[in-house]
Amino acid sequence: MGEPIVGRGDELAQLRAALVAASGGAGRLVLVSGEPGIGKTRLAASLADMAAQYEVPAAAGGAIDDPGMPPLWPWHAVSRSVPPLAAMLDGTAGSAGGAQGSADSGSERFAMFAAASRALADAARERGLLVVLEDLHWADRTSLLLLRHLTGELSGSRLLVVATFRETAEKPLAGLLPALLRGEGTRLIRLTGLPRPEIAQWLRRLGTSGDVDDLAGRLRARTAGNPLFVRMLIEHGAAAGADDEARVFPSCGTWPWPTWTALTARNGSCSTRRACSVSGSIRRCCARSPGCPAPGSPPRSTGPPRSAS
Ligand SMILES: Nc1ncnc2c1ncn2[C@@H]1O[C@H](COP(=O)(O)OP(=O)(O)OP(=O)(O)O)[C@@H](O)[C@H]1O
Ligand SMILES: [Mg+2]
Repeated sequence: MGEPIVGRGDELAQLRAALVAASGGAGRLVLVSGEPGIGKTRLAASLADMAAQYEVPAAAGGAIDDPGMPPLWPWHAVSRSVPPLAAMLDGTAGSAGGAQGSADSGSERFAMFAAASRALADAARERGLLVVLEDLHWADRTSLLLLRHLTGELSGSRLLVVATFRETAEKPLAGLLPALLRGEGTRLIRLTGLPRPEIAQWLRRLGTSGDVDDLAGRLRARTAGNPLFVRMLIEHGAAAGADDEARVFPSCGTWPWPTWTALTARNGSCSTRRACSVSGSIRRCCARSPGCPAPGSPPRSTGPPRSAS
C-alpha cells in the first residue's frame, strides 16, 4: 500500500456508508467526478483498500483514450474478477446473447445486459462486491448502456458500483449521464481542490519545515488545490533541493522535463478552467521570461537528452 491519502474525509465517509448499505442489500451507484488530477483514481483506490478491510471482493475496469478501444472494454476488465460475466459479454452463455455481432439487435442486447447484471448481482450475493469503473468520459456507448441497465437492478443487490469521470461534454457520456444520475440508488461526489489545511497536513507529513501554513496557502493559490499539481510542485522543489520559497514557485525554465510535459499535456486535454490554472501560470511566467519554451515543449535547461545523430 502506498502513501496514505490526504484529506477527503467527507468523501470517504460517504463511500463507507455506500459500501455498508450495499453490503446490507441496498446496492448503490456512486459517481465520482472532477477535473484531471483532482484525485478520482486515488479516492477509488482508498475505497478498494477499505473494501479489502471489510473483506468485500472488488473488481475494476476502465475506459481508455484510444479510438481503437473495443466495445465493453471496461466491463471485460471487470469480468477478469467475475468470470461468469465474461461469458455474458461474449455471448457464449446460450440465450444471453452477446455484444459482438448482436449490438444492433435491441432485444438481444437487452438480454445480454440483463444476463450481465444478473451475473454481477450473483457474484455479490455472498460477500458483496465493489465494482470500480474508471474514466467513463472515454467509455463506449454500449458500456454506458450496460451501466444504465445495471443501475436499475441495484436496489435488491449487494453491489456497490463506483464510476469516475471528468466533467466534459464528451459523448456518449454526456447523453447518458442524466439517466445514471436519476437512479434511485445513485449518489454523486464532485471532487474539488484540497483546502489549505490539508495541503499543510501533506507538507508536514513530508517533513517540510518553516512556515508550513503560509507555504500551503501559496500552493493552494498556485494550484487551486489540485493534488496532482500540488504533488508535482512539492516533488520538483524536493528534487531540486530548493528552499521552501523556490519549492512553491520554481522559476520558469527550470521545471524537470517530465513535470513540464505532464502539466502542459494536461492543459491540452483539460475540460475546466481550474484544471488549466497551473498551466496558465506557466504561460504567464513564460510571457515574462524571454527565451522560455512554449507550453507543450520541453524547457531548454532540463529537456531530455538528444541522440547524437
Ligand atoms: N487526496 C490525495 N492525497 C494524496 N495524493 C493524492 C490525492 N488525490 C490525488 N493524489 C495524487 O495526485 C495524482 C493525481 O490523482 P489521480 O490520478 O487520482 O487524479 P484523477 O482525478 O484520477 O485524474 P485523471 O482524470 O487524469 O484520471 C496522483 O499521483 C495521486 O496519487
Ligand atoms: Mg484517474
